[in-house]
Amino acid sequence: MFSLPGLTRSLTLLCSITQVFGTPIDTRSDITDYFSSVESDLKSLTVQTAPSTIEDAFSKLQSILDGKNLTLVETATQLISAGLSSLTWDGVVSYIDGLESGLASSSNVNSREPSVAVYPSASTGDAPYSFSEDELRSALYIPGNFTYGVSGAPQPILLVGGTGNPGYVTFVGTYIKLLQNEETSFGDPVWLNIPGYELDDLQKNAEFVAYAINYLSNICGNRSIAVMGYSQGNLDSQWAYKYWPSTRAHVTDHVAFSPGYRGTELTQIIKWVPQPPAWLQALYDSDFVLATRANGGDSSYVPTTVIYSLTDEVVQPQFGDGASSPLKDAHGAGVTNVRVQDACPGQVAGSFYTHEGIPYNPLAYALARDAVLNDGTGQLSRLDLTSICGNYLAPTLTLEDFLLTENTAVVAAVLTLLYDGKSTTEPAIADYAK
Ligand SMILES: *[C@@H]1O[C@H](CO)[C@@H](O)[C@H](O)[C@H]1NC(C)=O
Ligand SMILES: *[C@@H]1O[C@H](CO)[C@@H](O)[C@H](O)[C@H]1NC(C)=O
Ligand SMILES: *[C@@H]1O[C@H](CO)[C@@H](O)[C@H](O)[C@H]1NC(C)=O
Repeated sequence: MFSLPGLTRSLTLLCSITQVFGTPIDTRSDITDYFSSVESDLKSLTVQTAPSTIEDAFSKLQSILDGKNLTLVETATQLISAGLSSLTWDGVVSYIDGLESGLASSSNVNSREPSVAVYPSASTGDAPYSFSEDELRSALYIPGNFTYGVSGAPQPILLVGGTGNPGYVTFVGTYIKLLQNEETSFGDPVWLNIPGYELDDLQKNAEFVAYAINYLSNICGNRSIAVMGYSQGNLDSQWAYKYWPSTRAHVTDHVAFSPGYRGTELTQIIKWVPQPPAWLQALYDSDFVLATRANGGDSSYVPTTVIYSLTDEVVQPQFGDGASSPLKDAHGAGVTNVRVQDACPGQVAGSFYTHEGIPYNPLAYALARDAVLNDGTGQLSRLDLTSICGNYLAPTLTLEDFLLTENTAVVAAVLTLLYDGKSTTEPAIADYAK
């Protein structure tokens, strides 16, 4: 079994650093030194042999992460060392370079014009955009065989990825595959590759989500879409629903994998070290989190199905009243909050799932599918839990997809370190949100 995360996360990170290096770390310069030493550790790693079975992979993952309170860069180092990621520092750089003119591009040519203007504003109640329409539209990747919501076609689904990833990289081992495979599909996917790999200001990232919802639904003949977010993708979406209310009517379902709607206590220490804006805003009770949650922003605006893990190594706490993932339902839009360990207690699908692991979890898949194919949110009561909970992965996913998905943490760590323009101060809250 895994250990329960504790209550005082902000201090435990400091403890884990002390334990790793065996010397007390109590000054800011110690911490800066510490961060440069983990960075050079990560740079020096080479690819290791991957585990040969999914059981072995899960057990290795638990043994490197369970109860360790690691920073993102340490997690990446552990994943590579255990053969749970096929990428290295240089590997990430060439992987991203290779994708940037294609599937992970933020400069896509989407020539379909909407039938009514969705820019500069789709409705008078919406916040202003700071990007041009061309910038906003270009971040949306629409596969060549997308069906544009024609009658009888599956529902369009917008995928919004996590911090430090192009959307493609977040979902290539899970929902791009699951939704493009006839056997497991329940919708037709497009994805956002937000410029800056979602390391910039979340208020800016949210503009891409707001625009994409209104644009996509319009070019799909006004058909409503579903949105599936991973990690930050959910905060961006929540901000978009809140400050661009025109988006809400176009979304039948939001499915949230590992959201940090309250931020996380696990990264408190990074306050002392310059960071990309997105990580500062991910802190528990950051200005961004407080602004998001104010005036009903801690409740869903569209039917929302939240799936999360007690053993999330990035977003904590995930237990008790302060749990970060669950949303409330003050607007009556509908919410289902499911923690995999509660729905599949003592079973494989309720075992050790990481932050990045919720997208490959079989219960998460079943709930997402249930949400999209039915009115309202996903319902456990409609699922055959006895059969679902016995699996490690969503149907048709393989060990290779598991590794591809764990790669996302390594990509996020490397792109975070390479980010230009780190700061110790969170971006100011926009005037429209004050
Ligand atoms: C991680 O945090 C938990 C809960 O606070 C604590 O019990 C545990 O000792 C910490 N582990 C390390 C390695 O610091
Ligand atoms: C659409 O294209 C993707 C990528 O080439 C492919 O995997 C998928 O099977 C295609 N879907 C359909 C419905 O043909
Ligand atoms: C979509 O809705 C707008 C008005 O809201 C309308 O002008 C337009 O014709 C509709 N498009 C389609 C394809 O029905």
